[in-house]
Amino acid sequence: MKIGFYQFVPEFGNTQKNIATMVDAVRNADADLVVFPELATSGYLFLKQDEVAAVAESVPGPASRAFSAVAVETDTAVVVGFPEKCGDVYYNSAMLATPDGRVQVYRKNHLYNEEKLFFQPGDLGFPVFEVKGIKIGLLICFDHMFPESARCLALQGVQIVCHAANLVLPEYAQITSRSRALENKIFWILANRCGSESRGGKFLSYSGRGQIVDPNGQVMVSAGPDDTGFFSVDIDPETANKKRLAPLCDVFEDRRPELYNLLTEKRM
Ligand code: ACM
Repeated sequence: MKIGFYQFVPEFGNTQKNIATMVDAVRNADADLVVFPELATSGYLFLKQDEVAAVAESVPGPASRAFSAVAVETDTAVVVGFPEKCGDVYYNSAMLATPDGRVQVYRKNHLYNEEKLFFQPGDLGFPVFEVKGIKIGLLICFDHMFPESARCLALQGVQIVCHAANLVLPEYAQITSRSRALENKIFWILANRCGSESRGGKFLSYSGRGQIVDPNGQVMVSAGPDDTGFFSVDIDPETANKKRLAPLCDVFEDRRPELYNLLTEKRM
């Protein structure tokens, strides 16, 4: 199975151009699964709710139709971050377009900083999707800082996490993606954007350095901080089903959930 990510610089507010760039990238990828960054159709640095409303889309909508069409045409599953409109509510979402023509959605559960001004937190839990018989899960950027996110997916049998990101903190996700992949014995595709956005006196620089990590926590392929383009690797997803580290050691069977009372922890 050939999996990859496309690292690029989305143009703020220019959804038509960004979608066209990504559709072209899927056509050229010749892959089974391609992951694009968070809010890749729109850009990230919103100043006002009106700006979100101007670029947000429902599913189905123009973006989902474009990615569904290219998924069918190329037999490629495509993950794309986008601002989602659902009634009067906006979510920081990622869609999964699959070669059977379906489009499914994950809504970011852990909103970062000023995203909380514009988006509602996700209300869909951690759904599991299937691509060519392989179980995949979607996470969006800051979700990576919560190990429970990846754990919820892995415990449901997910073999590949598709992590759409707009990373603004140095190196954190390059570290956590390796840890999450290792502790859950899964593959991890970190699709980050690069470049910067400067709007209304605010400035954000995005760190690039997307990477694909194997179930041993080893980086299989990585992009530089300013690289743009498609990065891919061939994997055997079945290796993510092996959770055993030693004959009497299994990272799932040896868990002690009765000790993990996550709801009652005290704050210092
Ligand atoms: C982030 O969650 N986009 C930092």
